[in-house]
Amino acid sequence: MTAVPVIELRDVTKIYPLPSGDVLALDRLSIRIERGEFVAIMGPSGSGKSTLLNQIGGLDVPTSGILRITGRNIRKMSDDELTDLRLNAIGYIFQKFNLIPLLTAFENVEYPYILRHRCNDTTGRVSRLLNDVGINKRMAKHKPAELSGGQQQRVAIARALVNDPDILLCDEPTGNLDTKTGAQIMEMLTALHRQGRTVIIVTHDPSVGDQAERIIRIKDGRVDET
Ligand SMILES: Nc1ncnc2c1ncn2[C@@H]1O[C@H](COP(=O)(O)OP(=O)(O)OP(=O)(O)O)[C@@H](O)[C@H]1O
Ligand SMILES: [Mg+2]
Repeated sequence: MTAVPVIELRDVTKIYPLPSGDVLALDRLSIRIERGEFVAIMGPSGSGKSTLLNQIGGLDVPTSGILRITGRNIRKMSDDELTDLRLNAIGYIFQKFNLIPLLTAFENVEYPYILRHRCNDTTGRVSRLLNDVGINKRMAKHKPAELSGGQQQRVAIARALVNDPDILLCDEPTGNLDTKTGAQIMEMLTALHRQGRTVIIVTHDPSVGDQAERIIRIKDGRVDET
């Protein structure tokens, strides 16, 4: 018996309707990603990489085609099930960190924990995760604007992990960082993959792509087989 892929797209099309005309961002895209894989998604600007990640993460819904996450068709999920998927099964890491400006680093990491458990973290998990990514107690009291880009991305990684997701989706996670800080962030993502997580990373950077087990190249919303 073959294992169910953690992510499966079959003929997925995404059209953004705009007043100036429809934009075909994904064009009958078919992809399979197995549990525990470390995959890089590469391709030119505008080729549909972020659109693809947003569909995989349930942040957006395909116009047509089949998208299954851990074997379940997202089109057949209720709103509650989709919320649960986004909150517990998937962690996101973005190029621009996307931390909440008014919350401290600690509160940013605790936020998805509160959404899930409906109470503050009394287990020490948030502190442990911040410590693991190299954010000390003092820095944890800082707001995002009082942290460097690399520190903000460490906080974002801790936030992505707080509900212990199996899948990590990363959109240009090193795109706003210098080479050395980017390499440190990549080491963390590689370690998370070694721990058994499925890691999918969108990148322009060939040296980042080389660290993945497999590269999927996208061009004009399709898998580029050339
Ligand atoms: N919300 C949106 N509304 C309308 N068009 C969009 C939207 N998001 C993306 N697009 C269009 O869809 C296509 C794919 O965009 P997408 O952001 O997925 O590309 P990308 O590969 O992530 O590019 P980049 O490397 O620059 O981040 C582009 O033509 C883009 O202009
Ligand atoms: Mg993008």
